[in-house]
Amino acid sequence: MRREVMNRKELEEQLAGIDITLPPPAKEPQRQYYFIKKLRGFAEEKKKELGRPLYANITTFGCQMNARDSEKIAGILQMIGYQETDAEEADFVLYNTCTVRENANLKVYGRLGQLKRVKKENPHMVIALCGCMMQEKTVVDKIKKSYRNVDIIFGTHNLFKLAELLAAKVFDRPESKKMIIDVWDGEAEIVEELPNERKYAFKSGINIMFGCNNFCSYCIVPYVRGRERSREPEDILTEIRRMVQDGVVEVMLLGQNVNSYGKNLKEPISFAQLLERVEQIDGLKRIRFMTSHPKDLSDELIAVMGRSEKICKQLHLPLQSGSSRLLRLMNRHYTKEDYLCLVEKIRKAVPDISLTTDIIVGFPGETDEDFEETMSVVEQVRYDSAFTFIYSRRTGTPAAQMENQVPEEIVKKRFDRLLERVQEIAAEKTQKEAGTVQEVLVEEVSEKDPSLVTGRTSQNYLVHFPGSPELIGKLVNVTLQESKGFYFVGEQIKA
Ligand code: 5AD
Ligand code: SF4
Repeated sequence: MRREVMNRKELEEQLAGIDITLPPPAKEPQRQYYFIKKLRGFAEEKKKELGRPLYANITTFGCQMNARDSEKIAGILQMIGYQETDAEEADFVLYNTCTVRENANLKVYGRLGQLKRVKKENPHMVIALCGCMMQEKTVVDKIKKSYRNVDIIFGTHNLFKLAELLAAKVFDRPESKKMIIDVWDGEAEIVEELPNERKYAFKSGINIMFGCNNFCSYCIVPYVRGRERSREPEDILTEIRRMVQDGVVEVMLLGQNVNSYGKNLKEPISFAQLLERVEQIDGLKRIRFMTSHPKDLSDELIAVMGRSEKICKQLHLPLQSGSSRLLRLMNRHYTKEDYLCLVEKIRKAVPDISLTTDIIVGFPGETDEDFEETMSVVEQVRYDSAFTFIYSRRTGTPAAQMENQVPEEIVKKRFDRLLERVQEIAAEKTQKEAGTVQEVLVEEVSEKDPSLVTGRTSQNYLVHFPGSPELIGKLVNVTLQESKGFYFVGEQIKA
């Protein structure tokens, strides 16, 4: 089920005030409402002609940011009149891409290859690409040359323009094979008040900032998502209040580095202060956030986490490497000792916190000793779970120029060893939770067994337990009876 964040009435009022017989307004978001309204007429005509609504299919690669962007895209399409479908032969097919690692790019090319045949059978299909990969000139050049079936390309800074770009395709050049390409280099202003939909009625991600200023030497994100921009706190709070009115009980505040939130606002505010204001929203039960950069995680934030009733007992704290030498080369601005010290402080303030992390194996010049340092941090911190990645050389980043790229076989061996240990520790940690009673936010009916529902604890553990669909969106107490590795089997404690 998908639900809107802004209520339908407000959205319809925006549309009602727009006259599509006039030229489009210059100001956003009215300009986009103009194109949405025009496209609505087009969608209605098509519905009559086809005897069914227009169908859209969105595929999202990558991180939570992209997932949230796709909800915005879905909101715009739904307002136009598209119905979402799983079928890749929809009338409008969009890939929201990721370029953090090479394999994400390869998947997109693979899908585009498959679509060549599908589009031959359905020449009216519109194919659009957006997201981080599109911010790279080499990618767009390759698509222009080898994937002529693509109709629209836009980037990370202007996804709010989707309706305008789609209107250009369907009204101005329906038969043209020329691609519409609109990718912006610099950062755009943040456009508020556009429609968006969310996957779950009771929980939602919310952007608090865009971009990244950290330039970790392996990472392409600052080049494709631009410099850090924070949203105004009032805009964030208004959006969350609206969500809560609409049934949301859990929010995940999203940013590449949430700990530096608010620094570039006219009236600066810290992330901890923002959290305290979010916490005051009545009806909101749970707050999560990601991602935290260890170098910017303040004592003020730790104190707020320690005393908060609503902030979940979970922190994602990317380590990347346990070797201080590599951390310097990665431009991370902390040492192994700084990191361990931070973990100790957090655990002191929030003893039952669940810690998760990201680790890269095979960064240029990584020696056996460097890798052992990573293993030693893993042993000391004992993460509840860890995302482990093989280093991927991203053109344009400083690390791509570094000598001593580590041979594949060595990286693979280290990676396997790390993954095995990370999984063992995670299993040991979850084992220890068995028998405890925890509050679970029920998310959905289990796909495997419809007599079960699944949900998440504050620490983000997944729990399956017998229950009916009416529990979805509710917080209930559950005994975690047995750990099954990455999830628990439990039983609800009835009041
Ligand atoms: N190679 C491998 N992993 C990477 N990440 C970012 N860039 C790269 C890269 N070039 C990982 C980091 C980051 C996560 C989102 O992706 O661990 O925290
Ligand atoms: Fe990439 Fe580093 Fe920014 Fe994270 S903090 S997005 S790893 S540059």
